Amino acid sequence: MKWPSVIMISALVAVAALQGCRQKSSATDFKPPDKAYGSEPDWNNSQQIISLNYQQTQGQRIFYSNCVWCHASATPAGPSNMSNLKPQPPLANDGATLNSLSNDYLQNIITLGGSAMSKSAMMPPWGRTLKQDEIRAVIAFVRAIAQPPYQQPARTSSQYSEK
Ligand code: HEC
Repeated sequence: MKWPSVIMISALVAVAALQGCRQKSSATDFKPPDKAYGSEPDWNNSQQIISLNYQQTQGQRIFYSNCVWCHASATPAGPSNMSNLKPQPPLANDGATLNSLSNDYLQNIITLGGSAMSKSAMMPPWGRTLKQDEIRAVIAFVRAIAQPPYQQPARTSSQYSEK
């Protein structure tokens, strides 16, 4: 066999193999558009599914790697630390506690930790572990799962002032 035909044949085999893979994955990986990003069951009612946008889905991933241990009653690995801590951390979906706190305040306490904000030092600082964007994403996730639901504050008139 001459070299060019060997190359041709191996190219054909490669293409066939690739197509095989593609067909297989397109059969199993297809997701309808509304499931393009993530979802999270409502923590108070697991029948209810909250769909998440891209940023909230990033935040969900960050939450389940860093925050779930103290801010949920259970974790993927079993029980959480929450009930052992004093003061007890709020559940991440505790809208009654968190909805009234501004995004700026949350960004600060998550970045700097509890002690920098006159709160318990049991809340660690994340500013060296997480980027500011990642902290914004985790806040977006917390807002998405809040019960009662979080309402974005109306913009203050000063933001529209003409200058
Ligand atoms: C080791 C346990 C622990 C971990 C991990 C932890 N927290 Fe906390 N967190 C606490 C405790 C304890 C408090 C309560 C502080 C207080 O009320 O003085 C708290 C409070 C908070 C508050 C409420 C602040 C307020 O003023 O009421 C927010 C928001 C928060 N944590 C976000 C996060 C986020 C986001 C993560 C993950 C990036 C995280 N926490 C990880 C222990 C933890």
